[in-house]
Amino acid sequence: MGGIIPISLHSLTTLLSFFFLFLTSFPAKSSSADTINSSESLTTGQTLVSSNDVFQLGFFTLDNSNWFLGIWYKNIPDKTYVWVANRERPLKNSSSGVLRIGVGGNLVIQEDGEGSTSAGSLLWSTNRTAAANPINPVAKLLNSGNLVVREASDEQNFLWQSFDFPTDTLLPDMKLGWDLNSGLNRYITSWKSKTDPSTGGYSFKLNFHGFPEVFLENGQHMRIYRSGPWNGLRFSGVPEMKSTADMNFTFIFDQNEVYYSYHVSDSSLISRLTVNSTGSLQRMTWIEDSKSWSLFWYAPKDQCDDYRECGPYGICDTNASPVCNCTWGFKPKNQQAWNLRDGSDGCVRQTSLDCSTDGFLPLKGMKLPDSTNAYVDKTMNLKECQQACAKNCSCTAFSSANISDRGTGCVMWTDELLDMRHYVEGGQDMYVRLAASDIAAYGGIASLNDSKKSPAPALVAGVSVASGVLLLGLTACLIWKRKRLQSMLGGKTQQRGIQERSQDLLMNEAVITSKREYSGETNPDELDLPLFDFNTVAQATNNFSEKNKLGQGGFGCVYKGMLDEGLAIAVKRLSKNSGQGIEEFKNEVRLIARLQHINLVRLLGCCIEMDEKMLVYEFMEHKSLDSVLFDKSKSSILNWPRRFNIICGIARGLLYLHQDSRFRIIHRDLKASNILLDGELNPKISDFGMARIFGRDQVDANTRRVVGTYGYMAPEYAMDGLFSVKSDVFSFGVLVLEIVSGKKNRGFYYANNELNLLGHAWKLWKERKAMEVLDPSVGVSYSSQEVLRCIQVGLLCVQEHAEDRPIMSNVVLMLGSETATMPQPKNPGFCLGRNVDTSSSSSKQDESFTVNHVTVTMLRGR
Ligand SMILES: *[C@@H]1O[C@H](CO)[C@@H](O)[C@H](O)[C@H]1NC(C)=O
Ligand SMILES: *[C@@H]1O[C@H](CO)[C@@H](O)[C@H](O)[C@H]1NC(C)=O
Ligand SMILES: *[C@@H]1O[C@H](CO)[C@@H](O)[C@H](O)[C@H]1NC(C)=O
Ligand SMILES: *[C@@H]1O[C@H](CO)[C@@H](O)[C@H](O)[C@H]1NC(C)=O
Ligand SMILES: *[C@@H]1O[C@H](CO)[C@@H](O)[C@H](O)[C@H]1NC(C)=O
Ligand SMILES: *[C@@H]1O[C@H](CO)[C@@H](O)[C@H](O)[C@H]1NC(C)=O
Ligand SMILES: *[C@@H]1O[C@H](CO)[C@@H](O)[C@H](O)[C@H]1NC(C)=O
Ligand SMILES: *[C@@H]1O[C@H](CO)[C@@H](O)[C@H](O)[C@H]1NC(C)=O
Ligand SMILES: *[C@@H]1O[C@H](CO)[C@@H](O)[C@H](O)[C@H]1NC(C)=O
Repeated sequence: MGGIIPISLHSLTTLLSFFFLFLTSFPAKSSSADTINSSESLTTGQTLVSSNDVFQLGFFTLDNSNWFLGIWYKNIPDKTYVWVANRERPLKNSSSGVLRIGVGGNLVIQEDGEGSTSAGSLLWSTNRTAAANPINPVAKLLNSGNLVVREASDEQNFLWQSFDFPTDTLLPDMKLGWDLNSGLNRYITSWKSKTDPSTGGYSFKLNFHGFPEVFLENGQHMRIYRSGPWNGLRFSGVPEMKSTADMNFTFIFDQNEVYYSYHVSDSSLISRLTVNSTGSLQRMTWIEDSKSWSLFWYAPKDQCDDYRECGPYGICDTNASPVCNCTWGFKPKNQQAWNLRDGSDGCVRQTSLDCSTDGFLPLKGMKLPDSTNAYVDKTMNLKECQQACAKNCSCTAFSSANISDRGTGCVMWTDELLDMRHYVEGGQDMYVRLAASDIAAYGGIASLNDSKKSPAPALVAGVSVASGVLLLGLTACLIWKRKRLQSMLGGKTQQRGIQERSQDLLMNEAVITSKREYSGETNPDELDLPLFDFNTVAQATNNFSEKNKLGQGGFGCVYKGMLDEGLAIAVKRLSKNSGQGIEEFKNEVRLIARLQHINLVRLLGCCIEMDEKMLVYEFMEHKSLDSVLFDKSKSSILNWPRRFNIICGIARGLLYLHQDSRFRIIHRDLKASNILLDGELNPKISDFGMARIFGRDQVDANTRRVVGTYGYMAPEYAMDGLFSVKSDVFSFGVLVLEIVSGKKNRGFYYANNELNLLGHAWKLWKERKAMEVLDPSVGVSYSSQEVLRCIQVGLLCVQEHAEDRPIMSNVVLMLGSETATMPQPKNPGFCLGRNVDTSSSSSKQDESFTVNHVTVTMLRGR
């Protein structure tokens, strides 16, 4: 319509349209309204608020150029959007968008073009196709966060509801799954990025075929993770899932519907399940005390969560090394790839089946295999199930369909068993068809009757022999973790506890935010933190002259300086995009200044001027360890006792950061160039706490940089970004081997075992020639026992699996004691061709390689 209006009338019409909009929207909803009727509308700036004051609906923007209609939590300061209507077609002009109830009771968002009145372009509509026009339709934002359209007089029946069209968030009581009668499939799809709500690459969708389960898929509809089927109590692949008084889970599977949903009984508990833009499922819980979201659960979590990690008939077990193992009676299909830790080809039968004499091998503690093509009968019991499976020659395995109440129902698989994994706790039993001779070889005890009397020995025994004591420790840890998870839901009285515990959980995520730790005792403001003024620092460093430059790192440049008092300082001039405000920066610096240990570089103060941020440290005479250790002309000053002293010093410094300091810092970038040596060649860790200053998000978002350095990164961090004290331990191990050998560890990415230092040391260790690792330039006076102990500790620290690596207190103990017994190291983490299978999870691969690529680039910049 705008097109036909004569140019001469243009401005008048604009005025009129303003007037019109003004008028139509003026019966402006008082801020507490939760409903609009067909003669009302909602424009930018106006909102609906659910009557319980929890949810708010309105237009929002994240970049000031695209406007969306969405729903968010009204009282959560960190705006969290749980639903977005027009995610594909944002409003470009904030002052011209309007939400109203249009023809046929459809909710519409219109962008009123310049100069037009009401018939602007339609951005979004609810597409209701029902025959009858509603009489008096209203749109209401319910307390659950559901936006519904209904007849004003009918509270029960909805003409349309936003819960049927989720965005990236599953709220309590929302259904994830199918209405089989109407064909409606409700699933969540990620945002494109943190600031772009349009449809992103990942979705979490229920597949109702076979034995229903939920799949996380990437943009190419490739499965990257699956929940496992619902076993009556929980998803088979989420052993930690457990209904409690505060939150319970429902799975409905009948002729009409197949869906998953959860219910929160305590209305003050705010919980949501989302799929985020990088392809993770996250359950977040709002912690009012700290005003932050706490990551309660996430997936995929580990290597074994990657879909088809071990291929057909392979069983993934994170506690085993390598993680993939073939089911008993099967052997790797491609032994060579298997040796290279690529299990994706899976396993093949050793003995073919003959149908009539085959038996069944019980597997305990399993995540059930991919069940898309499984056959389910809810009425059979396990025995009938076995008989049915035995009779059907194409049946490869069976199990109970519902394990609550000692097991009912029957699932049978008739094709390859895919994506199985073994859990120490919380898995379930299943039975795999094997040739009689394989059953006999297994011990002839694999009948259903026997397995009920005693737990299946083979699989369990195999695993426990392999992982020995560590497994026990892990079990305890898992139990403890589970308890913790359960009690996290244990109600409001435990809020404080929740906070602390969720912080523990977050240890895995990044350096803990411990702002609340200020509260009790010392106020951080009371800690005197010298603020240097810019001129002093500039003067001390000769105006940051090239000559004074000591080095350059990812966080900025370092200059040597001399204060008037004759005190030598090192000034770290931070690159400008730390993305952090001045107050936050000061807080972090105060906190870091309080970390004091003989093996940490002392922070003297900081300088904040305009957008400059600098940290002032004590100056270290011998500069960094790498400048001495890897320089053939200097390395001989590092005789063995000095090297041993350096190793022990770093270990103590790291132990302090990890365990003894009140803030529990994960360094994240431990390497030779971050170890400084004082006049007596005592080691001092530097750059600790930088991760705090450059908060994780900022680092990712602003500088596109991944903290950490090629060659020192633990595999789980490099590949998956998983992060814990154990990734620091890995870096420490690399450092120890470098100090002993005087050689740099070459990046483990493209190298094979033999080429990098870790592989070299490991090979010599296995050949009992470990002393050959030692750098000849240490001279002749050394204790072989100490050297061997250091190598062993180094190898223990770089083991592939984070769980196997010791914690720093044990490292200090092992280094310090001649009598301490140490475990034998397992193979180090090389990251050999993990999941190189391009067919299954290619987009995920691309991502991890992007990460690596960025990291490598950064290293060259240093
Ligand atoms: C819509 O609500 C307004 C204010 O509550 C009221 O004046 C108007 O009559 C209502 N319109 C209809 C169609 O019910
Ligand atoms: C936005 O819409 C208003 C009202 O329709 C109009 O006056 C204004 O010029 C528009 N702005 C842009 C950038 O199109
Ligand atoms: C409504 O239908 C149009 C045209 O088929 C489509 O582009 C739009 O995405 C649909 N809207 C919703 C909310 O499904
Ligand atoms: C599983 O079995 C229990 C107990 O027999 C029953 O209450 C529950 O509804 C069953 N669940 C499913 C999903 O069939
Ligand atoms: C979940 O809790 C609610 C409220 O306590 C209850 O009505 C519902 O039946 C529970 N659902 C399940 C599956 O236990
Ligand atoms: C997505 O979730 C994972 C797991 O919690 C997290 O590591 C990642 O940073 C998240 N991505 C974004 C963009 O928030
Ligand atoms: C693999 O499984 C077999 C039994 O199927 C067991 O004997 C063997 O020890 C397992 N290997 C590892 C490394 O767990
Ligand atoms: C075996 O099971 C498959 C899959 O359920 C089915 O298609 C086939 O008809 C069954 N065969 C016999 C002999 O029952
Ligand atoms: C289980 O035991 C019963 C009686 O003890 C026996 O008749 C049956 O054959 C056994 N089943 C199997 C599969 O061995």
